[in-house]
Parts: sequence; C-alpha cells; structure tokens
Amino acid sequence: MLRTQVAIIGAGPSGLLLSQLLHLHGIDSILVERHSREYVAARIRAGVLEQGTVDLLLEANLGERMLKERLVHDGFSLAFSGRTERVDLKGLTQKAVSVYGQTEVTKDLIEARVAAGAKICFTASEVAIEGIDDHHPTVRFTQEGRTQEITCDFVAGCDGYHGICRQSVPKDAIRTFERLYPFGWLGILADVPPVAHELIYSNHARGFALCSMRSSTRSRYYVQCGLDEKLEAWTDSRFWDELRSRLPDEIADAVVTGPSIEKSIAPLRSFVVEPLKFGQLFLVGDAAHIVPPTGAKGLNLAAADVRVLYRAIVEYYRTGSTESLNLYSEKSLRRTWKAVRFSWWFTSISHKFSDDPFANRLQLAELDYLSGSTAALTSLAENYVGLPFE
Ligand code: APR
Ligand code: PHB
Repeated sequence: MLRTQVAIIGAGPSGLLLSQLLHLHGIDSILVERHSREYVAARIRAGVLEQGTVDLLLEANLGERMLKERLVHDGFSLAFSGRTERVDLKGLTQKAVSVYGQTEVTKDLIEARVAAGAKICFTASEVAIEGIDDHHPTVRFTQEGRTQEITCDFVAGCDGYHGICRQSVPKDAIRTFERLYPFGWLGILADVPPVAHELIYSNHARGFALCSMRSSTRSRYYVQCGLDEKLEAWTDSRFWDELRSRLPDEIADAVVTGPSIEKSIAPLRSFVVEPLKFGQLFLVGDAAHIVPPTGAKGLNLAAADVRVLYRAIVEYYRTGSTESLNLYSEKSLRRTWKAVRFSWWFTSISHKFSDDPFANRLQLAELDYLSGSTAALTSLAENYVGLPFE
C-alpha cells in the first residue's frame, strides 16, 4: 500500500507539470502512467507556447533549455486568395509566442521529475479509482504483474481524452459538449529548413494547410485531409505536392522538401466536460477538453488548468481552505470555453467544409475584412497569444 497527497493519473504534460509544481511547494504526488517512459517522451504534438505557459514552465524551474532553444515569434501569416497577410502579434498585443515542441516540454518535465526522485509508475495497467466521494480516494493498478494500491487526499485526472478518470464519474453527474469536424490534419515532420521564419495558415480551395516548425532546421507541415484517408496512401512526394498546391506561388516555390521523419493523421474535435471536479477528483487538460489544433491551444489550456489547480492545492495544504479547490471547475471552464470558441472560429474561417461557393466567399470576405481591420486583427491576436489570466 502506497500513500501520497495527490495521486496523478497520466504522465503527459498536464500530470508531469502538476507533479513538478506541487513538489516545489513541498507537496507529494505519485504519477501513474499507462505507457512507457520512452513512449511518453517520443510523442509528437503541437509546438506553440503562449507567454503564460512559458511563465508557468519557468515557475516550475524548467526554463533553461526552453529559453535557449525556443524560437520567439512576433507574428504569423494568413494566406488566402493568392495573398499573404501578416498578423503582427507584437505590435497588436505587445506579446509574442514561443515555438518549442511539446515533445521537448515533455522530455524536460520527465528529466526534472526523475532528477527530483519523483515516483512515476510507468506501464501501469488496469488503472482504477475508487472513493472519490469520500476523503480517502484509492487508486489501484497493475505493474509488472503486481497489484498496487495508492491512498491519497486528491486524484488529478490527467489521463487525456481516452483516460479512465472521466469515465469513472457517474454519467448523470457529468455533461459533455462535442463538435466533430468533417476532416482531419495530415502532418509531417522533416529535417528541412522551414519555408518562412513565421507560421503560415493557408485557406485554399483544395483545403487548409499550415507551415510550422520545430527549429531552424526542422519543419512541421499539415494539410487538411478527409477522415477516411489512409496514411499509406500519402507518400512523401504526394504530401509535398499537395502542400505546395495549397500555398501562394512564391511560398510554394520556396518550400524545401525532404524525407519525412514522422507522418500522422489526427481528426479534429471540440469537446468539453462540465464540471471538472467530482468530490476529490479533478479533471485536467485533455481529460477535460479537446480543441482542434488550429491556433495551438491544447497544451496551453492544459497548462492553464494546472496553474489554477496547483495553486488551489497549495492553498489547501497551507491553510486548510477548500475555497479555491471549489472554484477550480468554474475558473478553468471560463478560460476553456473562450479557447474552444477561438479554435472553432479559427478552424471555421480557414478550412474547407464543403463545395458550397457561398460559404467559401464568406470565408474569404472574413479573411479580407480581418486583414484590413486593426480591431478584428487585435481580437485574433489577443486570443492567439493567450488571453490574460484573471
Ligand atoms: N491510466 C494511466 N495513464 C493513462 C490512462 C490510464 N487509464 N489513459 C491515458 N493515460 C496517459 C496517456 O498515456 C498519456 O501519457 O495519460 C497521459 C495523457 O496525456 P495527454 O494525452 O498528452 O494529455 P495532457 O497531459 O492533458 O496534455 C495536454 O493538450 O492538446 C493537447 O497535444 C496537447 O497532449 C497535449 C494535451
Ligand atoms: C505545430 O507546429 O504543430 C502547430 C502549430 C500551430 C498550430 C497547430 C500546430 O496552430
């Protein structure tokens, strides 16, 4: 029987960051993770950090490599109707974003946690939680054939969209909101220099495309694709041809191609659960909400949840007050819904939903209006860099 203050299910960015911040405030936690350390560290996800996320990583003593290796971006571009219009984030909001892959964030987090002697139970199976309604919840799991049990004060459900924490809550205690989009993103990673210094989001008659990067020598590109597409059908050369066909000519001509080192398809989804607290269980990050990747809000929202929850837990152990713990759900959901709205809107103006020419003209009119209006650009920019914390 193991005992800890906070049992954290899932060692993705949410769980690892929560555990690190709690540790720095003298609070003990145990992480229970379904996959191996190697698997968790190698997963490729998004790569744009809001300043608030950077600040939280610094607060967690994780900034050293990130500050050295990140690329600071003061803007990005929107491509449509053969034009390219820059969104001057810095000029509009006095803020910038940092390009630093989630894979790197996760590696830094695992290293920091292991160096501090954290207890992380990797490759745990049959994970189950019990007793979240009373004050002594239990987490049970199997590791290397042995059944383990953790008793704790709180359980943090950081186990992603497919995790068990949300599923452990009685159906009538939870409400879910969901929107599926009729397309996915086909992404590739390649060791070629990025086509531009900043990101380019492209609305094209053939579908959306995004030019992103991980460093000055590693590019990340995406094209919108059908939900039934097979990865095997996408050779590297087909991908590069499709990408270039969706970019304005001068950008398409500048794309440097090369062999992909990773290729994957992900469906787009908006998903929110309410509330986020059930007795002693708190849902955090992807376990609580999913946003389409347009605008790169997923990891930033997860970090924002962690920020609210860790402070509430620290307050509880310092003062005995449960006030902030009781406000976690409401506080996190207010921020979440604004990011859900933003990523839905950004998706809706940049992707091809149908062959309807009227809908297409509306999108182009909106992009044209946006690029000519400081008011509209400021709205886009302040959401993109991350809304202020209350
Ligand atoms: N038991 C233990 N661990 C589990 C279980 C389970 N039953 N189910 C899932 N997990 C683990 C997964 O293996 C994964 O490592 O929980 C972790 C969840 O990590 P993520 O899915 O990355 O979610 P989160 O940590 O909330 O990260 C925020 O926001 O949009 C994104 O891409 C972004 O993944 C990032 C996320
Ligand atoms: C990425 O680099 O993976 C990325 C960047 C911006 C987005 C989404 C994904 O909006």
